This record gives sequence, structure tokens and C-alpha cells, in this order.
Amino acid sequence: MIYGIGTDICDVRRIRASLARHGDRFAQKILSDAELATWKSRSARWPEQGLRYLATRFSAKEAFSKAIGLGMRLPMTWRLCEIGKLPSGQPVIVLHGGLKVWFEGQGLQAHVTVTDETDYAASFVVVEKMVELASKPRQI
Ligand SMILES: CC(C)(COP(=O)(O)OP(=O)(O)OC[C@H]1O[C@@H](n2cnc3c(N)ncnc32)[C@H](O)[C@@H]1OP(=O)(O)O)[C@@H](O)C(=O)NCCC(=O)NCCS
Repeated sequence: MIYGIGTDICDVRRIRASLARHGDRFAQKILSDAELATWKSRSARWPEQGLRYLATRFSAKEAFSKAIGLGMRLPMTWRLCEIGKLPSGQPVIVLHGGLKVWFEGQGLQAHVTVTDETDYAASFVVVEKMVELASKPRQI
């Protein structure tokens, strides 16, 4: 069954301004270690690509925080919620630490989609709660 849904729209210009003000410290606050490595390599190749990567991660994490109903409150933290990628390119939510323990303990599963255009990045997250079938088919 659906446990929660969450959405977020992020102004890429705000992320650009935060990066200009706080430099790498801003990215370090938002991104997990794996994401930070991706951000660095994309930024090195083309700063705009790094910016877009950071903005979509920002929006996906906010959307996830809403879908679980906590917002940015413990055990939800920016860095414990990672947006990974399947070989097909589809984004997936990969949790760490206390957030992973809490999430899995509740039998939850998340689905995420992200998009971006010139000035905006947006995300949508659906969280499902795994429920056991009320009655199993009778064995004959
Ligand atoms: C949820 C949260 C990440 C949204 O951040 P934001 O970028 O400021 O705001 P957005 O415009 O993206 O979203 C706002 C909407 O999020 C939704 N929202 C707020 N708290 C939420 C929660 N715990 N779960 C799900 N959705 C929530 C509300 O619908 C809100 O709309 P409203 O202000 O019209 O009621 C942020 O409010 C948060 O972390 N809240 C929890 C911590 C908290 O309460 N801090 C403030 C008091 S100390």
C-alpha cells in the first residue's frame, strides 16, 4: 500500500548562489560520499552539469523527506539519503545508517523520478509499505 508521496521543485539559480557563497561545503552538506565523487567529476568536466546534478539530488532528497512524512528531521538527513542510478539510468534511493535501519524496519520501499529544465529541478517520490497478505491461499 502507499505509505506516502512527496514532491519538490528546486530553483537551480538558488543552488548556484549557495555554491557561489559556500563553495564545496554546500555540496558536502547535501551529498553522500558517492554522490560527492560524481558531483566532483561532473563539475570538473562541465560546471553546469555538476550544478544540475546537485539541484536534482537536492530536490529528490526533499521529495523523499516529504514522502516519509518527516521532512528534514532525524533519522532523515541529507547525506544518509543517496540518489543512485541503475545501469539503465533510472534513479534509485539508496539509504544509509540510521535512516536505512528506520526505513527498512517499517517495511518501506521508495520509488523516485527526477527532471530538470533551464532554471528548475523537480522530483517525485512514492513510498510503499510492504504488507503481508492477510490470508494465504490454502495448501491442498
Ligand atoms: C518538509 C520540508 C523539507 C519542506 O521544505 P521547504 O523547501 O521549506 O518547502 P517546500 O515548499 O518544498 O514544501 C512545503 C510543503 O511541504 C509539506 N510538508 C511540511 N512538512 C512535511 C512533512 N513532515 N512531511 C511531508 N510534507 C511536509 C507541506 O505541505 C508544505 O506546504 P505548506 O507550507 O503549504 O504547508 C521542510 O519544511 C522540513 O524539513 N520540515 C520538517 C522540519 C521542520 O518542521 N522544520 C521547521 C520547524 S523547526
